[in-house]
Amino acid sequence: RRPIVVLDGPAGAGKSTVARMLARELELPFLDTGALYRAVAYWLQRQKVPPEETPDLESRVLSLGVRLEGERVLVGQEDVTAAIRTEAVDRIVSLYAALPSVRRGLLELQRSQAEQGLVAEGRDMASVVFPRADVKVYLTASPQVRARRRHEERLAAGQTSDYEAILRQVEERDRIDSSRECAPLRVDEGALVVDTSDLSLPEVVDRLRRAVEG
Ligand code: CDP
Repeated sequence: RRPIVVLDGPAGAGKSTVARMLARELELPFLDTGALYRAVAYWLQRQKVPPEETPDLESRVLSLGVRLEGERVLVGQEDVTAAIRTEAVDRIVSLYAALPSVRRGLLELQRSQAEQGLVAEGRDMASVVFPRADVKVYLTASPQVRARRRHEERLAAGQTSDYEAILRQVEERDRIDSSRECAPLRVDEGALVVDTSDLSLPEVVDRLRRAVEG
């Protein structure tokens, strides 16, 4: 059986980059669950659905038709891969992700990706989505390091970026993600904690690969 490897942690800890590289090395599929929450938040906001729990919200989320095609994210027929990586979406995503109906609406889609094993990253991988994962990792770094990385990512992508604004927002998102009632961001008791503040990317990937290979 192919392994299920999960990475949880706060915004900008390097989860996406690390998980993608690890998946490539281990020849496993890669799942970025944040992209799914981003796609839902982006689309609901566009439909003027406020971030509030309602009786029909879960069925609404299911009917959006959020799909993954490799690294691309689609909502119905529309490719939203680029549209979900903006500061505007950063500002709203945690509000929608805190809603139990949104989380329930995305649960099966996430689990269905694991048939051939996978490396998945998010906030509640170890606690909710893949509690029986073979390897659980909690990746973290100081807020300053995380904001700096996000800032550089945005600049490299040719987008405008403001470090101070990103830092405030990273801290705000951490606060919402850790204090929400439904599936808060927590260090799972079975998780290997890795602080990436002073580690290079290859060092982190190497450490995790050794954890998977035992
Ligand atoms: O890459 P970054 O850490 O900025 O965020 P992301 O992984 O794209 O996730 C964006 C937001 O989605 C997070 O701040 C959480 O509010 C939410 N999220 C979640 O609640 N559960 C997950 N499994 C993944 C993301």
